[in-house]
Amino acid sequence: MSLFTRLANAYRRYGVVGATLRGMARLLNRARARALLAVYKLTGGRVARFPAFCVLENDPYLVGLLGMTSPSERAFLQWYARELYTGQGLIVDLGPFLGATTCSLARGLSANQRIGSRSGRVRVFDQFVCDAYMSNLLSRYLSQGLIEHSYQEGASFRFEFEKQTQDFADMFILREGDLSELDTQIQDTEFLFIDAMKDVATANHIVRHFYPHLIPGLSLVVHQDFAHFYTGWIHLIQYELREYLEPVYFIPKSSSQVYRVKKDPSEIRHYRLDLSEWDEPRLDAAFRYSLSMVPPKQRASVIAAKFMLYMHRGDKSGARRRLAEYVEAGHPLEGDLPHVASLVGFQGGS
Ligand SMILES: C[S@@+](CC[C@H](N)C(=O)[O-])C[C@H]1O[C@@H](n2cnc3c(N)ncnc32)[C@H](O)[C@@H]1O
Repeated sequence: MSLFTRLANAYRRYGVVGATLRGMARLLNRARARALLAVYKLTGGRVARFPAFCVLENDPYLVGLLGMTSPSERAFLQWYARELYTGQGLIVDLGPFLGATTCSLARGLSANQRIGSRSGRVRVFDQFVCDAYMSNLLSRYLSQGLIEHSYQEGASFRFEFEKQTQDFADMFILREGDLSELDTQIQDTEFLFIDAMKDVATANHIVRHFYPHLIPGLSLVVHQDFAHFYTGWIHLIQYELREYLEPVYFIPKSSSQVYRVKKDPSEIRHYRLDLSEWDEPRLDAAFRYSLSMVPPKQRASVIAAKFMLYMHRGDKSGARRRLAEYVEAGHPLEGDLPHVASLVGFQGGS
């Protein structure tokens, strides 16, 4: 593609200011220019404040929170709640586990000068039921003296959430329960953080319940499991709904993709993803779309998620065939791919 065509495309997509920032970011490859472009896209060109989250990721408080999100994700949440959140809608935190995300959002909110009352601004949803992975992580915390109790699979870890978030208890309202059975009235939502789309039924329920209450031109949605090998349905959903949500930012050193709501999403209340309806060309198109958003390091996880989708559809031989084609085309098995290769029983590759 000629320089002229690239410039023309950039101006069409981002406008004059955005394209100039994008050019600066590429030419200078400087964190500050990249950060300015990120803010420009996140806000739809409304504000251009320097995003301090680039620096905040080293904040000992954020680093020290117990949980699975990375310091840069927590820094982004804190920065968002302090600098961008306007108060026109609620902040929703789906799947906080021990509350690292809740604390990051609430800490940002406490420093937000634009809003009046902070009480109940954050709505938190989790079922607090320990699975094997969480139980292992909590045992590690116990052996490191970070918590005082052990949690077996099936036990409730709500106590640890309440302990870690206690300083911010007035800022959030907690709903305990399975999100796939959630039947609660959702209000206008300005920020939706999703770390609980662990199966298709829950993903469908979250889309139908939460997406229609997002505010066009303002709301952001963060998919924490975007670059995770297991949760391929996220790519299909975001591809199908691309006219409503545009990708604006991939949080560095994380697996989180941020979207901005560009079109009234109220009709999404009838949305339903059915994995069996996806033929190969459409599946490939959805993943090409996702791959165009992620940094090189996260590509392997997104590609792995495509092969895992075949497994989720009960088509292990399809997963093996697609993986074999990928390897035959000369691609290396890196990142999450060796793990997925062993799950699908793929023998080839190095
Ligand atoms: C990977 S953990 C989230 C990590 C967390 N965001 C952090 O910062 O550490 C996933 C969370 O989603 C919750 N979750 C998963 N499926 C759920 C469901 N169907 N309903 C409610 N919560 C769910 C789990 O209980 C868990 O706390």
